[in-house]
Amino acid sequence: MPREIRVAIAGVGNCASSLVQGTEFYRSAQKKIGLMNEKVGPFKVSDIKFVAAFDVDERKVGKDLSEAVYAQPNNTRKIVQVRPTGVKVQMAQPLDGISPIAGDKIQPSNAKPSNISKVLEDTRTDVFVNLTPTGASKASEMYAQAALHAGSAFINATPAKIASSKAWQAKYKKKGALVVGDDIMDQIGSTILHKNLLSLLVNRGTQIGETYQLDIGGGTESQLALDKKRYEIKRGIKTAAVAAAVPYKFPIVAGSSDFVDFMENRRTSYFWIRGEYFAGTDFTLDMRISLEDGPACAGILTDVIRMVKLATERDQSGTLNGISSYGFKAPPKRVPIENLNQELGWMPKGPMPN
Ligand SMILES: NC(=O)c1ccc[n+]([C@@H]2O[C@H](COP(=O)([O-])OP(=O)(O)OC[C@H]3O[C@@H](n4cnc5c(N)ncnc54)[C@H](O)[C@@H]3O)[C@@H](O)[C@H]2O)c1
Repeated sequence: MPREIRVAIAGVGNCASSLVQGTEFYRSAQKKIGLMNEKVGPFKVSDIKFVAAFDVDERKVGKDLSEAVYAQPNNTRKIVQVRPTGVKVQMAQPLDGISPIAGDKIQPSNAKPSNISKVLEDTRTDVFVNLTPTGASKASEMYAQAALHAGSAFINATPAKIASSKAWQAKYKKKGALVVGDDIMDQIGSTILHKNLLSLLVNRGTQIGETYQLDIGGGTESQLALDKKRYEIKRGIKTAAVAAAVPYKFPIVAGSSDFVDFMENRRTSYFWIRGEYFAGTDFTLDMRISLEDGPACAGILTDVIRMVKLATERDQSGTLNGISSYGFKAPPKRVPIENLNQELGWMPKGPMPN
Protein backbone atom coordinates (compact mmCIF):
# COMPACT_ATOMS: atom_id res chain seq x y z
CA MET A 1 0.00 0.00 0.00
CA PRO A 2 1.45 3.43 -0.88
CA ARG A 3 1.69 5.79 2.06
CA GLU A 4 -0.92 8.45 1.32
CA ILE A 5 -3.13 10.95 3.08
CA ARG A 6 -6.53 11.15 1.42
CA VAL A 7 -7.70 14.75 1.63
CA ALA A 8 -11.01 16.41 0.71
CA ILE A 9 -11.49 20.20 0.53
CA ALA A 10 -14.56 22.38 1.09
CA GLY A 11 -14.08 25.71 -0.70
CA VAL A 12 -11.74 25.79 -3.72
CA GLY A 13 -10.61 29.39 -3.13
CA ASN A 14 -7.19 31.00 -2.80
CA CYS A 15 -5.95 28.84 0.11
CA ALA A 16 -7.07 25.63 -1.60
CA SER A 17 -5.41 26.76 -4.82
CA SER A 18 -2.06 27.29 -3.11
CA LEU A 19 -2.43 24.02 -1.20
CA VAL A 20 -3.09 21.96 -4.33
CA GLN A 21 -0.40 23.75 -6.37
CA GLY A 22 2.13 23.60 -3.52
CA THR A 23 1.59 19.87 -3.09
CA GLU A 24 2.31 19.42 -6.79
CA PHE A 25 5.36 21.71 -6.50
CA TYR A 26 6.94 19.70 -3.66
CA ARG A 27 6.33 16.44 -5.52
CA SER A 28 9.08 17.37 -7.95
CA ALA A 29 11.06 20.15 -6.21
CA GLN A 30 14.74 19.26 -5.85
CA LYS A 31 15.15 21.40 -2.75
CA LYS A 32 12.36 21.37 -0.19
CA ILE A 33 12.88 25.03 0.71
CA GLY A 34 9.92 26.97 2.13
CA LEU A 35 8.52 24.13 4.23
CA MET A 36 8.21 24.31 7.99
CA ASN A 37 8.88 20.56 8.12
CA GLU A 38 10.07 18.43 5.25
CA LYS A 39 8.68 15.41 7.09
CA VAL A 40 5.99 15.15 9.77
CA GLY A 41 6.55 11.73 11.30
CA PRO A 42 6.98 9.58 8.21
CA PHE A 43 4.88 11.84 5.97
CA LYS A 44 6.20 14.00 3.13
CA VAL A 45 4.08 16.72 1.50
CA SER A 46 3.91 14.52 -1.59
CA ASP A 47 1.97 11.92 0.44
CA ILE A 48 -1.03 14.28 0.36
CA LYS A 49 -3.52 13.09 -2.25
CA PHE A 50 -6.68 15.05 -3.05
CA VAL A 51 -9.70 12.78 -3.37
CA ALA A 52 -12.71 15.15 -3.25
CA ALA A 53 -13.53 18.87 -3.42
CA PHE A 54 -16.68 20.96 -2.99
CA ASP A 55 -17.58 24.49 -4.03
CA VAL A 56 -20.64 26.47 -5.14
CA ASP A 57 -19.25 28.58 -8.00
CA GLU A 58 -20.14 27.53 -11.56
CA ARG A 59 -16.57 28.32 -12.72
CA LYS A 60 -15.31 25.57 -10.37
CA VAL A 61 -18.13 23.03 -9.97
CA GLY A 62 -17.87 20.16 -12.47
CA LYS A 63 -14.23 21.01 -13.32
CA ASP A 64 -11.23 18.87 -12.50
CA LEU A 65 -9.60 20.21 -9.33
CA SER A 66 -6.46 20.93 -11.41
CA GLU A 67 -8.47 23.47 -13.47
CA ALA A 68 -10.74 24.79 -10.72
CA VAL A 69 -7.81 26.03 -8.63
CA TYR A 70 -7.03 28.67 -11.31
CA ALA A 71 -10.66 29.74 -11.88
CA GLN A 72 -11.81 33.25 -10.97
CA PRO A 73 -12.31 34.88 -8.57
CA ASN A 74 -9.18 33.09 -7.25
CA ASN A 75 -6.31 35.53 -7.66
CA THR A 76 -3.42 33.88 -5.86
CA ARG A 77 -0.20 33.34 -7.79
CA LYS A 78 0.29 30.46 -10.21
CA ILE A 79 2.98 28.26 -8.70
CA VAL A 80 2.89 25.32 -11.13
CA GLN A 81 0.63 23.72 -13.68
CA VAL A 82 -1.20 21.02 -11.72
CA ARG A 83 -1.58 17.71 -13.53
CA PRO A 84 -5.19 16.41 -13.92
CA THR A 85 -6.29 14.89 -10.63
CA GLY A 86 -9.38 12.96 -11.73
CA VAL A 87 -11.23 14.76 -8.90
CA LYS A 88 -14.27 16.73 -10.10
CA VAL A 89 -15.31 19.64 -7.89
CA GLN A 90 -18.79 18.83 -6.60
CA MET A 91 -21.65 21.18 -5.80
CA ALA A 92 -22.56 21.83 -2.16
CA GLN A 93 -25.35 23.81 -0.54
CA PRO A 94 -24.23 27.47 -0.44
CA LEU A 95 -26.01 28.25 2.89
CA ASP A 96 -24.22 31.35 4.28
CA GLY A 97 -21.13 30.91 2.04
CA ILE A 98 -22.23 33.73 -0.28
CA SER A 99 -22.05 36.94 1.73
CA PRO A 100 -23.95 40.15 0.89
CA ILE A 101 -20.72 42.12 0.58
CA ALA A 102 -18.44 39.85 -1.47
CA GLY A 103 -21.26 37.68 -2.86
CA ASP A 104 -21.01 39.32 -6.29
CA LYS A 105 -17.61 37.62 -6.64
CA ILE A 106 -19.32 34.20 -6.61
CA GLN A 107 -21.38 32.96 -9.57
CA PRO A 108 -23.59 30.29 -7.99
CA SER A 109 -23.82 27.03 -9.91
CA ASN A 110 -27.25 25.49 -10.43
CA ALA A 111 -25.89 21.92 -10.23
CA LYS A 112 -27.50 19.59 -7.69
CA PRO A 113 -25.73 19.54 -4.32
CA SER A 114 -23.89 16.28 -3.55
CA ASN A 115 -24.38 14.11 -0.51
CA ILE A 116 -21.17 15.19 1.21
CA SER A 117 -20.83 12.45 3.83
CA LYS A 118 -21.43 9.80 1.17
CA VAL A 119 -18.70 11.31 -1.01
CA LEU A 120 -16.32 11.31 1.98
CA GLU A 121 -17.15 7.67 2.67
CA ASP A 122 -16.87 6.59 -0.96
CA THR A 123 -13.52 8.35 -1.37
CA ARG A 124 -12.24 7.03 2.00
CA THR A 125 -11.31 10.57 2.98
CA ASP A 126 -8.86 10.62 5.91
CA VAL A 127 -8.84 14.39 6.41
CA PHE A 128 -11.48 16.94 5.40
CA VAL A 129 -10.30 20.58 5.27
CA ASN A 130 -12.85 23.37 5.61
CA LEU A 131 -11.77 26.42 3.57
CA THR A 132 -15.12 28.15 3.13
CA PRO A 133 -15.25 31.97 3.55
CA THR A 134 -15.14 33.84 6.86
CA GLY A 135 -18.66 34.12 8.24
CA ALA A 136 -19.89 30.86 6.65
CA SER A 137 -20.79 29.32 10.00
CA LYS A 138 -23.74 27.29 8.77
CA ALA A 139 -21.78 25.91 5.83
CA SER A 140 -18.88 25.05 8.19
CA GLU A 141 -21.27 23.20 10.51
CA MET A 142 -22.69 21.29 7.55
CA TYR A 143 -19.18 20.12 6.64
CA ALA A 144 -18.29 19.31 10.27
CA GLN A 145 -21.44 17.17 10.45
CA ALA A 146 -20.62 15.38 7.20
CA ALA A 147 -17.06 14.59 8.35
CA LEU A 148 -18.39 13.36 11.67
CA HIS A 149 -20.90 11.09 9.95
CA ALA A 150 -18.25 9.68 7.61
CA GLY A 151 -15.64 9.33 10.39
CA SER A 152 -13.14 11.62 8.58
CA ALA A 153 -10.90 13.90 10.62
CA PHE A 154 -11.94 17.56 10.31
CA ILE A 155 -9.63 20.58 10.00
CA ASN A 156 -11.46 23.85 10.43
CA ALA A 157 -9.25 26.49 8.81
CA THR A 158 -12.05 29.09 9.06
CA PRO A 159 -12.98 31.29 12.04
CA ALA A 160 -16.30 29.39 12.54
CA LYS A 161 -16.48 27.98 16.07
CA ILE A 162 -16.10 24.23 15.53
CA ALA A 163 -12.98 22.77 17.22
CA SER A 164 -13.34 25.27 20.06
CA SER A 165 -16.99 24.25 20.62
CA LYS A 166 -17.44 21.78 23.48
CA ALA A 167 -20.47 20.29 21.71
CA TRP A 168 -18.48 19.45 18.54
CA GLN A 169 -15.54 18.15 20.62
CA ALA A 170 -17.87 15.75 22.45
CA LYS A 171 -19.47 14.50 19.21
CA TYR A 172 -16.09 13.81 17.62
CA LYS A 173 -14.81 12.11 20.76
CA LYS A 174 -17.87 9.84 20.82
CA LYS A 175 -17.37 8.95 17.17
CA GLY A 176 -13.64 8.31 17.72
CA ALA A 177 -12.75 10.95 15.12
CA LEU A 178 -10.54 14.03 15.30
CA VAL A 179 -11.35 17.75 14.97
CA VAL A 180 -8.77 20.60 15.05
CA GLY A 181 -9.05 24.37 14.55
CA ASP A 182 -10.16 27.13 14.51
CA ASP A 183 -8.90 29.75 12.03
CA ILE A 184 -5.58 28.71 10.54
CA MET A 185 -2.52 30.72 11.60
CA ASP A 186 -0.37 31.53 8.58
CA GLN A 187 3.15 30.14 8.13
CA ILE A 188 4.15 33.81 8.19
CA GLY A 189 1.51 36.45 8.64
CA SER A 190 0.32 39.27 10.80
CA THR A 191 -0.79 37.22 13.82
CA ILE A 192 2.30 35.02 14.26
CA LEU A 193 4.61 38.04 13.77
CA HIS A 194 2.70 40.38 16.05
CA LYS A 195 2.45 37.75 18.82
CA ASN A 196 6.14 36.96 18.68
CA LEU A 197 7.24 40.59 18.48
CA LEU A 198 5.26 41.32 21.65
CA SER A 199 6.54 38.17 23.30
CA LEU A 200 10.15 39.18 22.56
CA LEU A 201 9.57 42.68 23.95
CA VAL A 202 7.95 41.30 27.13
CA ASN A 203 10.83 38.84 27.58
CA ARG A 204 13.27 41.75 27.27
CA GLY A 205 11.57 43.43 30.23
CA THR A 206 9.69 46.16 28.37
CA GLN A 207 6.23 47.35 29.36
CA ILE A 208 3.86 47.37 26.38
CA GLY A 209 1.80 50.56 26.19
CA GLU A 210 -0.38 50.14 23.10
CA THR A 211 -0.28 48.34 19.78
CA TYR A 212 -2.17 48.06 16.53
CA GLN A 213 -1.98 45.95 13.41
CA LEU A 214 -3.66 47.04 10.17
CA ASP A 215 -4.04 44.83 7.11
CA ILE A 216 -4.67 45.78 3.48
CA GLY A 217 -5.33 43.07 0.93
CA GLY A 218 -7.00 42.28 -2.38
CA GLY A 219 -8.38 38.73 -1.92
CA THR A 220 -12.07 37.96 -1.43
CA GLU A 221 -11.31 37.52 2.27
CA SER A 222 -10.10 41.14 2.50
CA GLN A 223 -13.27 42.31 0.74
CA LEU A 224 -15.31 40.31 3.26
CA ALA A 225 -13.59 42.28 6.02
CA LEU A 226 -15.55 45.33 4.86
CA ASP A 227 -18.63 43.64 6.31
CA LYS A 228 -17.88 44.72 9.86
CA LYS A 229 -20.49 42.46 11.43
CA ARG A 230 -19.50 39.32 9.55
CA TYR A 231 -15.81 40.00 10.15
CA GLU A 232 -16.27 40.69 13.87
CA ILE A 233 -15.53 37.05 14.74
CA LYS A 234 -12.20 37.17 12.84
CA ARG A 235 -11.15 40.46 14.45
CA GLY A 236 -11.99 39.02 17.90
CA ILE A 237 -9.92 35.90 17.22
CA LYS A 238 -6.90 37.89 15.96
CA THR A 239 -7.02 40.29 18.91
CA ALA A 240 -7.26 37.45 21.46
CA ALA A 241 -4.42 35.52 19.78
CA VAL A 242 -2.09 38.54 19.88
CA ALA A 243 -3.16 39.71 23.37
CA ALA A 244 -2.31 36.24 24.76
CA ALA A 245 1.40 37.04 24.25
CA VAL A 246 1.34 39.73 26.96
CA PRO A 247 0.57 38.79 30.59
CA TYR A 248 -1.45 41.96 31.35
CA LYS A 249 -4.23 43.98 29.71
CA PHE A 250 -3.30 46.87 27.41
CA PRO A 251 -4.95 48.69 24.49
CA ILE A 252 -4.74 46.60 21.32
CA VAL A 253 -6.33 46.73 17.88
CA ALA A 254 -5.68 43.78 15.56
CA GLY A 255 -7.29 42.59 12.36
CA SER A 256 -8.67 45.86 11.03
CA SER A 257 -8.52 45.55 7.27
CA ASP A 258 -9.22 47.35 4.05
CA PHE A 259 -9.69 46.07 0.53
CA VAL A 260 -7.66 47.17 -2.51
CA ASP A 261 -8.67 45.01 -5.47
CA PHE A 262 -5.49 45.46 -7.58
CA MET A 263 -3.41 43.95 -4.76
CA GLU A 264 -4.93 40.58 -5.81
CA ASN A 265 -4.05 37.94 -3.18
CA ARG A 266 -1.29 40.08 -1.64
CA ARG A 267 -1.62 41.56 1.80
CA THR A 268 0.38 44.27 3.53
CA SER A 269 0.27 44.37 7.33
CA TYR A 270 1.43 47.36 9.37
CA PHE A 271 2.40 46.90 13.02
CA TRP A 272 2.93 49.67 15.52
CA ILE A 273 3.94 49.18 19.15
CA ARG A 274 4.62 51.75 21.87
CA GLY A 275 6.20 50.84 25.18
CA GLU A 276 8.79 51.62 27.82
CA TYR A 277 12.12 49.99 28.60
CA PHE A 278 14.94 50.75 31.05
CA ALA A 279 14.02 53.37 33.66
CA GLY A 280 10.80 54.30 31.86
CA THR A 281 12.48 55.27 28.56
CA ASP A 282 9.92 55.15 25.76
CA PHE A 283 10.20 53.49 22.35
CA THR A 284 8.01 52.97 19.32
CA LEU A 285 8.30 50.24 16.72
CA ASP A 286 6.92 50.38 13.17
CA MET A 287 7.05 47.33 10.97
CA ARG A 288 5.52 46.29 7.70
CA ILE A 289 5.31 42.95 5.91
CA SER A 290 3.96 42.21 2.43
CA LEU A 291 3.13 38.68 1.42
CA GLU A 292 0.53 36.56 -0.32
CA ASP A 293 -2.30 34.98 1.65
CA GLY A 294 -2.82 31.70 -0.21
CA PRO A 295 0.73 30.29 0.15
CA ALA A 296 0.93 31.52 3.78
CA CYS A 297 -2.18 29.47 4.57
CA ALA A 298 -1.04 26.43 2.57
CA GLY A 299 2.41 26.52 4.22
CA ILE A 300 0.96 25.61 7.58
CA LEU A 301 -1.89 23.46 6.29
CA THR A 302 0.59 21.01 4.80
CA ASP A 303 1.95 20.49 8.35
CA VAL A 304 -1.46 20.30 10.01
CA ILE A 305 -2.84 17.78 7.49
CA ARG A 306 0.14 15.48 8.11
CA MET A 307 -0.08 15.95 11.89
CA VAL A 308 -3.77 15.05 11.88
CA LYS A 309 -3.08 11.91 9.85
CA LEU A 310 -0.30 10.96 12.26
CA ALA A 311 -2.65 11.50 15.23
CA THR A 312 -5.39 9.36 13.69
CA GLU A 313 -2.85 6.56 13.22
CA ARG A 314 -2.27 6.78 16.99
CA ASP A 315 -6.04 6.46 17.55
CA GLN A 316 -6.42 9.96 18.92
CA SER A 317 -9.94 11.43 18.92
CA GLY A 318 -11.86 14.52 19.97
CA THR A 319 -9.75 17.65 19.72
CA LEU A 320 -6.00 17.92 20.17
CA ASN A 321 -4.80 21.14 21.81
CA GLY A 322 -1.17 20.70 20.72
CA ILE A 323 -2.01 20.60 16.98
CA SER A 324 -4.63 23.33 17.40
CA SER A 325 -2.18 25.61 19.25
CA TYR A 326 0.53 24.96 16.64
CA GLY A 327 -1.60 25.71 13.61
CA PHE A 328 -4.54 27.90 14.58
CA LYS A 329 -5.36 31.32 16.00
CA ALA A 330 -8.29 30.14 18.12
CA PRO A 331 -7.43 26.71 19.58
CA PRO A 332 -9.84 25.20 22.13
CA LYS A 333 -7.08 25.69 24.73
CA ARG A 334 -3.72 27.42 24.16
CA VAL A 335 -0.97 24.96 25.21
CA PRO A 336 2.81 24.83 24.68
CA ILE A 337 4.03 23.27 21.45
CA GLU A 338 5.71 20.51 23.51
CA ASN A 339 2.23 18.93 23.78
CA LEU A 340 2.70 17.76 20.20
CA ASN A 341 5.09 15.14 21.52
CA GLN A 342 2.36 13.49 23.61
CA GLU A 343 -0.16 13.71 20.78
CA LEU A 344 2.04 12.60 17.90
CA GLY A 345 5.17 11.07 19.38
CA TRP A 346 6.88 13.63 17.13
CA MET A 347 8.09 17.21 17.46
CA PRO A 348 9.21 19.83 14.94
CA LYS A 349 12.97 20.45 14.96
CA GLY A 350 14.31 23.53 16.69
CA PRO A 351 12.57 26.17 18.77
CA MET A 352 9.00 26.67 17.68
CA PRO A 353 7.30 29.96 18.43
CA ASN A 354 3.54 29.64 18.88
N1 LIG B 1 -3.86 33.14 4.73
C1 LIG B 1 -5.16 32.89 4.54
O1 LIG B 1 -5.62 32.96 3.43
C2 LIG B 1 -6.02 32.49 5.70
C3 LIG B 1 -5.53 32.60 7.00
C4 LIG B 1 -6.38 32.24 8.05
C5 LIG B 1 -7.65 31.75 7.79
N2 LIG B 1 -8.09 31.65 6.51
C6 LIG B 1 -9.45 31.18 6.29
O2 LIG B 1 -9.52 30.25 5.21
C7 LIG B 1 -10.78 30.36 4.58
C8 LIG B 1 -10.57 30.39 3.07
O3 LIG B 1 -9.85 31.55 2.69
P1 LIG B 1 -9.61 31.86 1.12
O4 LIG B 1 -8.75 33.06 1.06
O5 LIG B 1 -9.23 30.62 0.40
O6 LIG B 1 -11.09 32.27 0.70
P2 LIG B 1 -11.70 32.41 -0.77
O7 LIG B 1 -12.81 33.40 -0.70
O8 LIG B 1 -10.63 32.61 -1.77
O9 LIG B 1 -12.33 30.94 -1.03
C9 LIG B 1 -13.53 30.49 -0.46
C10 LIG B 1 -14.16 29.48 -1.42
O10 LIG B 1 -15.31 28.92 -0.77
C11 LIG B 1 -16.34 28.78 -1.74
N3 LIG B 1 -17.62 28.63 -1.05
C12 LIG B 1 -18.52 29.54 -0.61
N4 LIG B 1 -19.55 28.91 0.02
C13 LIG B 1 -19.29 27.58 -0.03
C14 LIG B 1 -19.98 26.43 0.42
N5 LIG B 1 -21.15 26.51 1.08
N6 LIG B 1 -19.43 25.22 0.18
C15 LIG B 1 -18.24 25.10 -0.49
N7 LIG B 1 -17.56 26.16 -0.94
C16 LIG B 1 -18.08 27.38 -0.72
C17 LIG B 1 -16.18 30.01 -2.62
O11 LIG B 1 -16.83 29.85 -3.88
C18 LIG B 1 -14.65 30.09 -2.74
O12 LIG B 1 -14.19 29.29 -3.80
C19 LIG B 1 -11.46 31.60 5.17
O13 LIG B 1 -12.43 31.22 6.12
C20 LIG B 1 -10.33 32.34 5.86
O14 LIG B 1 -10.75 33.09 7.00
C21 LIG B 1 -7.29 32.01 5.47
